[in-house]
Amino acid sequence: MGKTFEAYQLVGNFAKLFDRMMTNADLPARLALKFFWGLNSAAHKKFLAQAFAGIPKNFCGRLLEVPVGTGVLSLPIYQKLTGAEIFCVDLSDKMLDAAKARAVKMNLRGVKFLQGDVTNLPFTDESFDLVLSVNGFHVFPDKISAHAEVFRVLKRGGIFCGSVYVTGENRRTDLFVENFCERHGFFSPPYDTPATLKKFLREKYSRAEVTNVESFAGFTCTK
Ligand SMILES: C[S@@+](CC[C@H](N)C(=O)[O-])C[C@H]1O[C@@H](n2cnc3c(N)ncnc32)[C@H](O)[C@@H]1O
Repeated sequence: MGKTFEAYQLVGNFAKLFDRMMTNADLPARLALKFFWGLNSAAHKKFLAQAFAGIPKNFCGRLLEVPVGTGVLSLPIYQKLTGAEIFCVDLSDKMLDAAKARAVKMNLRGVKFLQGDVTNLPFTDESFDLVLSVNGFHVFPDKISAHAEVFRVLKRGGIFCGSVYVTGENRRTDLFVENFCERHGFFSPPYDTPATLKKFLREKYSRAEVTNVESFAGFTCTK
């Protein structure tokens, strides 16, 4: 966990670079996304769509996002969810600072930000209608506790959705993950394949749909 924290504190210092990559914003980002992640612009759009597909249009319940990171992908969506009560958690205060600054710029006053650990969430049982986790579970070292906490805070009938890296889809991506992302604390094994992710989520949730674009799976589950 110390290594993961340090890794994302560092990313937080280069939040603008991270944001450009996540949004496929310019030529270096497009080249890197294509080379390392196999995502061209069309595939990147699909990746985004599947990551947020589980949030119902006009959702107006209690939503927890963990991890929010810099909020570059989710905060624009929250602008449209005016009736929702939104809590965003991240381990790294540096990443969270970037998210908070973005929220101020976007005039998103209602969204609450908390520094915290997904394996020890400061919320009561069954207190959320939706938990969103975009690109979090391949980062968390203790995936079992993270899944248990998400399940605990989610109401019965609530939605768990988001996206995660899956292994076995692109050899170059898997090598990059193993030799760079893992080594520097950005990712933590073990990883699912699309099939093992679907099996795991279907055993834990009453319903679970999994899709994937290259090495990213999108999932929407109902507790
Ligand atoms: C790849 S970023 C994803 C951020 C955001 N969801 C996005 O897609 O832009 C992973 C984030 O997970 C956070 N993180 C790592 N371990 C965590 C933990 N145990 N609890 C909460 N957040 C954690 C990191 O600080 C980092 O901001």
